[in-house]
Order: sequence, then C-alpha cells, then structure tokens
Amino acid sequence: MSRNTAAIGIIDSGVGGLAIAKAIHQHLPNEKLIYLADNYYAPYGEKTAYFIQQRINFIVQKFIDKGCKAIVIACNTATVIAIDQLRAQVTIPIIGVEPAIKPASKQSENKKIGILVTQATSENKRFLTLIKTHQNDNDIFIQPCAGLVELIEQGQFTSPVCQQLLQQYIQPLLQKNIDTLVLGCTHYPFLKHQIAALIGDNINIIDGASAVAIQLGNILYQHNLSAASREKATTKIDFYCSKKTPNYQQLFAQLFYAEPQQSINLQHFDQNQIEV
Ligand code: DGL
Repeated sequence: MSRNTAAIGIIDSGVGGLAIAKAIHQHLPNEKLIYLADNYYAPYGEKTAYFIQQRINFIVQKFIDKGCKAIVIACNTATVIAIDQLRAQVTIPIIGVEPAIKPASKQSENKKIGILVTQATSENKRFLTLIKTHQNDNDIFIQPCAGLVELIEQGQFTSPVCQQLLQQYIQPLLQKNIDTLVLGCTHYPFLKHQIAALIGDNINIIDGASAVAIQLGNILYQHNLSAASREKATTKIDFYCSKKTPNYQQLFAQLFYAEPQQSINLQHFDQNQIEV
C-alpha cells in the first residue's frame, strides 16, 4: 500500500477527540482515519504523567505497526504530557492539540481570560510555559474541572450533576470578569451550549478543532503524504474503543454524526489487535 493512502491514527481518552476527527474528515475527505477512544483508562486527566506517556507510546506503536502515516493526539492532556518524548522516539508526523491560549490572548479586549482544563493539564510544565509564552499583558485564570470528562463519557450533558459542576467551575471565572473562555480539553466543546447558557453572550468561547485539521493538512502536504485522489484512498473511518459500555456506540453516532440512530461500527481495541 502506498504511504499516501495509509491511515491517520487519532487518539483521545474517549469521545472528546470526535469533534477533531469530524473536522479532519470534513477538511481532508480523502484521508482514511482510525479513531481510538481509550476509555478503559479515561479520564487521562486524573492519571500520572508517567502513566499517560506509557499508554500513548503503546497505542502509537500499535498504529505505527499497522502502517499509519501520521498520528493526531486529539487530547490536550496527552499532548502537553506526552508529545515531546513521543516525537523524540518516532519518525512519522505527530500532531497535537494545545489549549488555544495564543488566539485567546489576541482576542481578549479586557485582557481577562479563563481556561477550563483537566487536573493533569493544569499542573503540567509545558502547559504553564505555553501560558507564559502567549500571556502578554493578559490575566489568565486556570480552572481545573475534575469530573466533567466522566459525565461527558456517560452522555450526561444536561444532568443536574453536570449543571452543578459547570456552575462551580465557571462562577469563579465570572467573578474575575473574563471576556474570553478557552475550552482546554477536547471533551468540553460538547458542553458548549450549557457553558454558553451560564456565561451569557458577552464572553467569547474558543476551542481549536478546525485549527488541528488545517495543521494536519499542511503537515501531510509538506511530507508529501496527502491522499491525493478519492479513487485511490479508502475514505472511511474506523472507530475503536478500549472498553465497550452500554450506549457508547450511540454516543459516538450522536457526537460524530449528530444523529444517535446513525449506524456506526464501534470495534473493541483489545490492546493487541487493531485493523487498519
Ligand atoms: N479529552 C482530553 C483532553 O483534551 C482528556 C480528558 C481526560 O481524559 O481527562 O484533555
């Protein structure tokens, strides 16, 4: 098989990266994609840095063994914690997703920015350096959001518990008078409506799914790895998860196709096998 028609592996701890997979599918429709929700180990945000690095290295090696031409780490937590050491070990392009601090710093008018992240991201050195680098004269308020990822993984977008947690995390940022809110975890955009209802119209919400798709397209092009034509590429997406739970397949269909009844083949990643 030509390198150009090989698949792109996309990884997140769960459904969070689906918005990125969707943006990639729309921007690069000729590319074959394999999406892995590593939900057996979700949430990554409450694991140690060592664990996340080992796990990401393991999965990426499986993707490489099966011939993937590029990898997208569709997870802020795994990117800030694992991408540097991963890039030092592999030769294929690795694209990550980082909290969109740079655009937020440019857009904020009152120079007060809130950022919602996982616990692990909030403590990470690379993340804190990223803030320092792009902060300029902005005040940036970091809010770790324990518990949200688990609720999203269960499809609990509107449950009272979810509403209560969101209030708890957003209230302190409102008190700081922010005018810009960065969603620094790929799961959180699935709560965008609920977040918007809490913060009102005067605060701008920023997430970065389409930027990742554009960056991936550029990198494939630079490496001469783009799937050139529809005829040659198998334009399909294979979905995997490391733990099958009731309704997980339906949740995938709802979040990827905006249609819970859409048929989707969610396969089990049994740690050793992955079909490409
Ligand atoms: N969606 C991921 C992120 O962007 C990970 C969330 C988690 O598993 O804690 O950070």
